[in-house]
Amino acid sequence: MLEHGAAPPAGATEPRPPAPGGLGTRLMRRKPVERLVAEGGQGEGGSLRRSMGMWQLTMISIGATLGTGIFVVLGEAVPDAGPAVIISFVIAGITALFSALSYAELAGSIPVSGSSYSYAYATLGELVAWVCGWCLILEYGVSVAAVAVGWGQYLNELLAGTVGFTLPDALSQPPGDGGYFNLPALVVVLLAMVFLLGGAKESARANTIMVAVKIVALLLFCGVAIQGVRSGNYADFMPLGMTGVSAAGATLFFSYIGFDAASTAGEEAKNPQRDLPRAIMLSLIIVTALYCLVAAIAVGAMPWKKFEGSEAALAGIMKDVSGQDFWAVLLAFGAVIAIASVVLTVLYGQTRILFAMSRDGLVPKVFSKVHAKTGAPRANTVIVSLFCGVLAAAIPLGQLADATSIGTLFAFALVNVAVVVLRYTRPNMARTFRTPFSPLFPVIGFLLCIYMMGSLDAITWIVFGVWMAVGLVVYFGYGMRRSRLATAEK
Ligand code: ALA
Repeated sequence: MLEHGAAPPAGATEPRPPAPGGLGTRLMRRKPVERLVAEGGQGEGGSLRRSMGMWQLTMISIGATLGTGIFVVLGEAVPDAGPAVIISFVIAGITALFSALSYAELAGSIPVSGSSYSYAYATLGELVAWVCGWCLILEYGVSVAAVAVGWGQYLNELLAGTVGFTLPDALSQPPGDGGYFNLPALVVVLLAMVFLLGGAKESARANTIMVAVKIVALLLFCGVAIQGVRSGNYADFMPLGMTGVSAAGATLFFSYIGFDAASTAGEEAKNPQRDLPRAIMLSLIIVTALYCLVAAIAVGAMPWKKFEGSEAALAGIMKDVSGQDFWAVLLAFGAVIAIASVVLTVLYGQTRILFAMSRDGLVPKVFSKVHAKTGAPRANTVIVSLFCGVLAAAIPLGQLADATSIGTLFAFALVNVAVVVLRYTRPNMARTFRTPFSPLFPVIGFLLCIYMMGSLDAITWIVFGVWMAVGLVVYFGYGMRRSRLATAEK
C-alpha cells in the first residue's frame, strides 16, 4: 500500500515516511526497511547479541512447533476425523506452507526480531502493524499458556509411571476444569523464564538438546507402535466425512504454529538473510513429515473411537501395544521435555516481538531494556513470563488454543499481503528467498488463512473481537502518540 496513492519507479529507494498530516496519514505511516534493519539489535542501554547459526534457528522453529499439538491435540482431533486425521494434518500443513513461503521471503529481506509485526510496519503502515503485533500476543503469549496447560497432563502421566503419584486436580486444573489452580503450568513457564534470563545463546543450546529428545521420543513411538498397526483400523477411514476432516484440520493447525519462531530471532542470528528463510522452510518440512508419520501409526494402532476422551493418547498407545509401562513412561518423559521446549522458544519469541514494538515506541520502553552482561531483555522476560504463567494457571487449554489459532491465522494472512505489497513497492530490493508464483501463492496463503479463521467457533470470534477492541484502545491511547515515527515528525 502506498501513501498518497503514488507508485515509486522500479528500483526506487524506500518512499520517504509521510509528512505530518491528518489521522489517516499518521495511521498509515511506515517504517522504512533500511531503518528497521539499521536499528537491528539495539535496545535501551545495550544490544542483543548475534550468536545463532542456521542449525540453532531451525531448532528454535522446531522447538516452538512440535509439542502439545502432536502429543495432546491429536487425541482430540481423531474423534472428529477418524483415521483421515492424516489428511487433516496435510490440510493444516498446506495452509502453513503457503504462509511459511511468505515468512521466508520477508525474514530474508527484513531480518529483524519483530517478525510479522515489523514486516507489516514496513509495508502496511503503523496501525496494521500494531494490529499484527497485538495478534502476535495471541500467537505467542497466549499459546505459551495453552502449551503449558498441556504440559501438566504429561507431567502427571510421568509422575504416575515413575513415583506412582499424580497431582490432585485441585492443583493441576484451572477453575472450570475441576481445579483451583494449574500449578505445573505456572512452574514450566517460570523454568523457561530462568533459562531466558541467562541469555539467548544459553537458551538456544538448551532448546537444541530438548528438540533432539522430542524427535527421538516420537521416532521411538513410531518404532514401538507400528507393531500394533492393524489394517482394519483404517477401514472406516473417513467416518464423519469431509466436514469432520476439515474441522480436525482447523483444530490441528495449532500444531503447526511456531514454524515462524525463527523470524523473531533476526537480531540474534549471525547471518539472518541467508539462514532465516532456510530455517523456516526446513523446520516446516521436518515437522510435517513427523506429524504425518506419527498420526498414520497412531490411528493404525488404536481404533479411532478409543481416542474419545483419552488424555495423553500417544503414551496410552505405547502401553497397549508393548504391554509394558516402561515405553509409556519414556514417551511421557519425551513429551514433558517437548512441551517445555515449546514454552521456552515461544516465550522467547514473545519477548523479542515486544522488544521490537518497544523500540518503535508502541509499548513502554521497559520492554527494550537490555541487560549489559547477558544481552537479554530481562525486565521484558520477567513481565511476559508472569503474564503467561498466570494465564496458564487459570484458563483451560481448549479456549486458549482456539484464541491462539485465530490470532495466528490473522497475522499469517497479513504476512501474505505484506509480501505482495513489498514486491510492488520495492521490486528490486535484495531478496535471499522469493516465494514462487507470487502473487498467486501469497493470495492462496491469504485465502486459506481466512477460510480457516471462518471454521473457528463463534465464541472464539467474540474473544478475538474483544481482544482487538482492547488493542485499538491501547493504540489510540498510547502507541499512536508515543510512536518513534510520530516523535520524529514533530
Ligand atoms: N505448535 C505448538 C504446539 O503444538 C504450539 O505445541
